Amino acid sequence: MNKPEEGLAPARAKIPIERYSSDAHFRKEIEKLFRRTWLNICRADRIPEPGDYIVQDLYALDVSVIIVRGTDKRIRAFYNMCPHRGNRVAMDQCGNRRGFKCLFHGWTYDLNGACVAMPGEKFFPGVERSDARLVEIHSDVWGGFVHINLEENPEKTLVEYMVPQNGLDGYLEQTWYPNFHYQAEVNCNWKLMIDAQIEFYHFDALHEASLAGAASVRDHIPEVFPDGDGIIGHTEGYFSPETAKHPPTDVQMIAQEQGNAVYFNPLDEGKAKQPINAPNAIAMSGRDDWIADSYSLLPHIVLLIQNNNFVIQRAWPVSVNKTIWDLQGFSFEPQPPSNFGEFFNLRMVQYGQRDVLSEDLSTLEVTQRNLGAGPIRNFHFSEQEGVLRQLQERIESYLAKP
Ligand code: FES
Ligand SMILES: [Fe+2]
Repeated sequence: MNKPEEGLAPARAKIPIERYSSDAHFRKEIEKLFRRTWLNICRADRIPEPGDYIVQDLYALDVSVIIVRGTDKRIRAFYNMCPHRGNRVAMDQCGNRRGFKCLFHGWTYDLNGACVAMPGEKFFPGVERSDARLVEIHSDVWGGFVHINLEENPEKTLVEYMVPQNGLDGYLEQTWYPNFHYQAEVNCNWKLMIDAQIEFYHFDALHEASLAGAASVRDHIPEVFPDGDGIIGHTEGYFSPETAKHPPTDVQMIAQEQGNAVYFNPLDEGKAKQPINAPNAIAMSGRDDWIADSYSLLPHIVLLIQNNNFVIQRAWPVSVNKTIWDLQGFSFEPQPPSNFGEFFNLRMVQYGQRDVLSEDLSTLEVTQRNLGAGPIRNFHFSEQEGVLRQLQERIESYLAKP
């Protein structure tokens, strides 16, 4: 285990604020980090059938991507760009098709990206259909998530990138039921958004009225991976009844009894917990009072894992001070809910997350507005904020590459 104080020199606790406010630094992050690392896009089971596809905008990268399952069941990723004159070949967000027809002049592509129709083909002497394919992007699946890499020749495969290989992928790979999805455009730097989710130091202050009402967190154990790559580190949290500030409400207690999903709630005692098949990644201490693990994955992913449910947050950079926040919640069982009690239980998790994450978002825009003012030039990250330190280290190591 690499505690922050063992893995990081004290000087690294001081982080230049410029990294969050400088346009030049932001552009470097986009080109040297986002354009070169593996990016988590969606669950593979979101597109289960041949022809199922989704379209993802990569915002600051000025790229639109199609992720599609072929007739051979393989998942492929393509630039959403027609080789004729650059139009998007998929204008919608998702669906099922036998191929993609560009609406500008009608060039048409099959699910493998091959050009199968080129109206007026005889007027394109010298242009072979084989030269007119959709351009494929490297893609692979890890932990049940489709990832892409925009590099022509990625430095590492996705498996090589996702180190340390501690079994987190096996846990995520299971069949998860999509419980809820939120998106928001937030006027802050993408790292500010991630930082707010990968430490538990803020729980007692920021979540005083919500989370602290049902649970409190103690003994944070940030574990960081100085020799890793795509996996930065994680923090585990535990329920601490003697310091919990408020008892659970009656509604929380009723909802809790109706299903298996719990949300930062002590009442999971005695309930059937999902078998945790990643003993080296999650709930590592084996303590009965474990309530959550918060993982940071490079570059833009936060995973908040709890009993029978997890939330993935993607911070998509738009500009130095604008980020699309995308949050999806998944539950292990019931899949899907089969009666009102189970439905009620899942909604309790959803609205609990919504309220707490709204509190998290509340600090971001005002913080970002402060950053350009200049009187304070550095952030101070504590040992409890060790995962933030490690994330900074890893980002800077990418920016230092040629
Ligand atoms: S731009 Fe697509 S067919 Fe012309
Ligand atoms: Fe929070």
